[in-house]
Amino acid sequence: MLQKWWHNTIGYQIYPKSFQDTNGDGIGDLKGVTAHLDDLADLGINVIWLCPVNKSPMKDHGYDISDYEEIDPMFGSKDDLRELIREADRRGIKILMDLVVNHTSSEHPWFQKALKDPDGEYGKYYMIQEGKGGKAPNNWRSIFGGSAWERIGDTNRYYLHLFTKWQPDLNWENPALRQKIYEMVNRWLDLGIRGFRVDAISHLKKDFSGASLTADGADGLADGFACFTNAEGIGVFLDELRENTFQRYDAMTIGEVDEGLPPGALTKYIGENGYFSTIFDFCHSIFHVGAAQWRDQPTAMMDELKKLLFAKQEMVRGRGLLCNYMENHDLSRAVERFIPENEIDFYSSSLVGGINFFLPGIVFLYQGQAIGMRDFRKKELSEFKDPTTFVMYEEQIKNGMTAEESFAQINLESREHARTPMQWNDTPNAGFSTVEPWFAVNPNYHSINYEAQKKDPDSLYAFYKKMIALRKSGDFQELFIYGSFTPVYEEEPGVIAYRRSYDGRSVLIINNAKPQETALALPGTVTNTLLSNYDKVILNDGMIQLKRYQTVVLELL
Ligand code: GLC
Ligand code: CA
Repeated sequence: MLQKWWHNTIGYQIYPKSFQDTNGDGIGDLKGVTAHLDDLADLGINVIWLCPVNKSPMKDHGYDISDYEEIDPMFGSKDDLRELIREADRRGIKILMDLVVNHTSSEHPWFQKALKDPDGEYGKYYMIQEGKGGKAPNNWRSIFGGSAWERIGDTNRYYLHLFTKWQPDLNWENPALRQKIYEMVNRWLDLGIRGFRVDAISHLKKDFSGASLTADGADGLADGFACFTNAEGIGVFLDELRENTFQRYDAMTIGEVDEGLPPGALTKYIGENGYFSTIFDFCHSIFHVGAAQWRDQPTAMMDELKKLLFAKQEMVRGRGLLCNYMENHDLSRAVERFIPENEIDFYSSSLVGGINFFLPGIVFLYQGQAIGMRDFRKKELSEFKDPTTFVMYEEQIKNGMTAEESFAQINLESREHARTPMQWNDTPNAGFSTVEPWFAVNPNYHSINYEAQKKDPDSLYAFYKKMIALRKSGDFQELFIYGSFTPVYEEEPGVIAYRRSYDGRSVLIINNAKPQETALALPGTVTNTLLSNYDKVILNDGMIQLKRYQTVVLELL
């Protein structure tokens, strides 16, 4: 594999709204990110991905951009971003932005002009079609629920929005639009951004060839996912995007594309000439130990997770690197998803971090993950903030759920749980802001906060630091990036283990992802314990005795 600068990425995703407020308006800002660069450097990360900070009416918290060229005043200014880039650079940290080009905000001037004159230049920037028989052009359901089409005034025209109606889809079939996007992307790269996380990019191409689909719900709508996810021909757009932008700057790009990839297609996305440097792999995002299906069998869930993680590695073996992450701003906190409530503690939380940390690929953490931030369940629906939450609630009710059932499901799985303010210390509002934050802080900040964990050598934070230091250490860095990957103890319930080898060295990673102890016969002689979340690693007679939720990294002869 050709070596690239971004192969040694230990990434950290920041949700700026909830990271650190510096001007007392209750909303996190760019200066707040700069203020914590020393903390991030201390953790050992070297790449930051900033969720969208462009100008936005915030209907989807910034994933609805109304001006690609500007920073939203809520977050600060372009100068603040320049300062962040400069200060990060001094600490060996590179900044990636979020690139949201499947859609804009409905308040973007392009869309406003398109509404006024659908036949004009800007009408062709969006997907506007004539209705059929007084109805939308087809019956696709939006990814966030409801029809994917919105009628324009009282005309017979409709615009497509795969997400909320405040996020009209751009028309990538239009070369003039594509050109505008490339120029905009290059301006950010010129400013010093080193790459992008590329949002919802698998939806750029839409296949309108079929008529309406057979309805699959009481709403008469149908899941059109196959027609607008990695649709035939998308590669032409993705290649062109890369050639005109990323490639020219040796940028790092992480495509949000994993879902719906046809078999074998993965390597086109991340191979040597792939559309992106790497992608976010969604395979673990479907699990929640609190969901009815897994509630009574958490270990079986871990075994399913293992199968998927390993299958993904087989698909990319020798061809490209996946991005190994556990949390992001669209998922509730990882420990809540993988560990039964009564088992959540330091051991199980550190194990969750370790599950995919040493797999081939690039590591990405989400803010708060390294201190084990938890979901803050709400008492009422109105405590949530995301318009999407309310759209989903209404859709679920329409489709037959009771209000209680719908609320319970949202409270369990909501992506908003990841968006509570960062818990920095034990002072009011967890040190996030001097005023009441835009979204309630989890009251558990008195016991779960950065400052306390930073001081404590046995904290979860300290464990994450050790994991990062090991991945980056001169002796093992190449092994963890380029080393071979071989599953071990594959049939052992609740055990997720693999061997990595490179240049004559070999390392065994074992995660005992269950509340019971396990004894396993070792496949070789252990010469060194590189990491463990327990003080002791019990080895005797060619066996290892693992405690509940023990995770270990051992060097083998
Ligand atoms: C991506 C983002 C998500 C957003 C959606 C629409 O999935 O991660 O937060 O709502 O795209 O832009
Ligand atoms: Ca602020």
